[in-house]
Amino acid sequence: MLKGTTTIEQTEEQTEQKPKEWTPRILGILCNWCSYAGADLAGSSRIQYPPNVRVIRVPCSGRVNPQYVLKAFQKGFEGVLVLGCHPGDCHYAKGNYYARRRLMLLTKFLPSIGIEPERFHFQWVSASEGVLFAEVVAEMTKRLEALGPFSGIGLGKNADERG
Ligand code: FES
Repeated sequence: MLKGTTTIEQTEEQTEQKPKEWTPRILGILCNWCSYAGADLAGSSRIQYPPNVRVIRVPCSGRVNPQYVLKAFQKGFEGVLVLGCHPGDCHYAKGNYYARRRLMLLTKFLPSIGIEPERFHFQWVSASEGVLFAEVVAEMTKRLEALGPFSGIGLGKNADERG
């Protein structure tokens, strides 16, 4: 072999990339009036929290259809957070009460389709609770890291894979 040349094996070794470290992806569905403002406060106050959450803003937690949560899991999110105004603070009077009832049922339903209920969490976070928002995201990230990657809903990961 000529000096300065490399074999195919050596080239493959050099180009072999280190696998990217796994980190959970979380979908945060936040009510516009309280929790989104809380997340905004966390950001503007420069409170540190894991960058794992992607946020969708909805007018009210009562607007969250449980199918949104299932769709997020189907699309590959490892965890879903729904955050809304505290009881009595909902800008649409009873939206968060409806959300609580629906989402409690959803939590009970999740194991029947192969989703650990720990992958879903709903909580009240007000506009002044930036610190709490950061804590909720950090806690959820820690919990999902312990659970590991999500293996998919029930019969398959998503409709494409089921064919
Ligand atoms: S407006 Fe925030 S939960 Fe209804």
